[in-house]
Amino acid sequence: VTIFVPRDAASVAVGADKVAAAIEAEALARGLDVTVVRNGSRGLLWLEPFVEVRTGRGRIGYGPVTVADVAGLFDADFLGGGDHPLCHGLTKDIPYLARQTRLTFSRCGVTDPLSLADYRHYEGLKGLEKAIAMGPAAIVKTVTDSGLRGRGGAGFPTGIKWKTVADAAGPQKYIVCNADEGDSGTFSDRMIMEGDPFVLIEGMVIAGIATGATKGYIYTRSEYPHAIRTMRAAVDIARVAGILGPSVMGSSYAFDMEVRMGAGAYVCGEETSLLNSLEGKRGIVRAKPPLPALQGLFGRPTVVNNVISLASVPVILDRGANFYRDYGVGRSHGTIPIQLAGNIKHGGLYETAFGLTLGELIYDIGGGTASGRPVKAVQVGGPLGAYFPPSLFDTVFDYEAFAARDGLIGHAGIVVFDDTADMLKQARFAMEFCAVESCGKCTPCRIGSTRGVETVDLIARGIEPEKNRALLADLCNTMKFGSLCALGGFTPYPVMSALHHFPDDFAPAPLVEAAE
Ligand code: NAI
Ligand code: SF4
Repeated sequence: VTIFVPRDAASVAVGADKVAAAIEAEALARGLDVTVVRNGSRGLLWLEPFVEVRTGRGRIGYGPVTVADVAGLFDADFLGGGDHPLCHGLTKDIPYLARQTRLTFSRCGVTDPLSLADYRHYEGLKGLEKAIAMGPAAIVKTVTDSGLRGRGGAGFPTGIKWKTVADAAGPQKYIVCNADEGDSGTFSDRMIMEGDPFVLIEGMVIAGIATGATKGYIYTRSEYPHAIRTMRAAVDIARVAGILGPSVMGSSYAFDMEVRMGAGAYVCGEETSLLNSLEGKRGIVRAKPPLPALQGLFGRPTVVNNVISLASVPVILDRGANFYRDYGVGRSHGTIPIQLAGNIKHGGLYETAFGLTLGELIYDIGGGTASGRPVKAVQVGGPLGAYFPPSLFDTVFDYEAFAARDGLIGHAGIVVFDDTADMLKQARFAMEFCAVESCGKCTPCRIGSTRGVETVDLIARGIEPEKNRALLADLCNTMKFGSLCALGGFTPYPVMSALHHFPDDFAPAPLVEAAE
């Protein structure tokens, strides 16, 4: 009997390794023959460790399983898919999964992440085979026609970026995968690297063939040791199998890659400071232009794409541009892995076509707050994303719809807060975060963030609140338009949205007057 116990960091954090060992020990003690496969996570994080058993009816899921539950599961014949209080029936029928459109994450949680046989069995490498057959120009056209936009947050059309690199002259070009996933409430990059690393490798090789780049780097964070281990092992396997190397899958294209680890600076997720870090320099932002597409890593034409952008490419090449483009709404085509986090009942990863409303995501899918209290605000797009109150929950998940309401989708992380949250404190946190993480290159961000913390503190203490609220708005305006990169430029979003939507939190009891 085959039993699946996830190996991803989120599952391991809640005891998956111990549960896997306990299942093996219990089976041995009972003289039962089981094979434990360490798969990726399905993304139903509140059910982790989510243990599945392969049966004649399909895979049956149990969770959250603790070591103390293991003997009882054997008693209940879980090897035969037996009933048990932790049983959720057929995994594929669990509504949270059944309602998703899994294109990028189709294999995540299904396969053994390091089994190339599994990968091939579940449609892997088909995109690359087609890419090799069609050649660079047709690949770029397919990706452009698919409407895929950068999933790191900026939403720039991936095909156009690739074309810029493909058209640039240069003896050496690079594919750099930005896996420095630093946004609060985001974990989709990690889940791909831990749960389906070959899809990222496949996407990077396709990007290399499309643009003439022969070398790739995955830049990820030291906080992701499991992802780094799995990714490095997958790169070695791909090299031995001839997917990487001087002749990719026997073709005339060459491509090889390696995994590099950053030292934990948030700003190294900004593409130019990432490139500096990759070159061994201090992670400080470079002015644009020149665009990395023209002068990137070591001054050479470079594609810098997020993990999810690259991991979405194989299915596009396999199924065609129109197949992908038909999903979504407006100019936001395809699917996006939304990450539900913070104070939410059913936190996890939910891949769906663009177009659901924020309210549907938080209440219908996420089940509302974990605390059971009313939702006060959600922050979408990481620490630099705007706070949205429930009155804006009709906003459709789409790049343009969020921008129209002074927000951003970013890397599609949603962090939920209940009515105990103090939005003034959240605004202060945004400024403080910027002050701590600023690379220091430009004044509005380096100095402005510290002045911002001070100004919020004055408001909190009731000192000239009206004047200081106006000062804060003015400061935000300077940061928004005067900063060199998104860190200083986007910090005003959480601050101003908190101030705008939750004015009561910025009008605390005037302590100074009270003292008089
Ligand atoms: P950007 O709008 O300056 O650039 C987007 C991308 O398009 C860049 O790679 C840029 O080099 C490229 N580009 C622009 N014009 C081009 C052209 N003509 N040809 C080829 N390529 C071109 O945005 P930026 O500063 O790269 O990213 C900001 C975004 O990052 C924000 O929207 C934010 O949501 C997101 N972000 C994501 C985080 C994460 O953890 N994933 C963390 C913090 C911010
Ligand atoms: Fe550096 Fe901040 Fe300026 Fe960005 S905005 S370049 S992080 S100082």
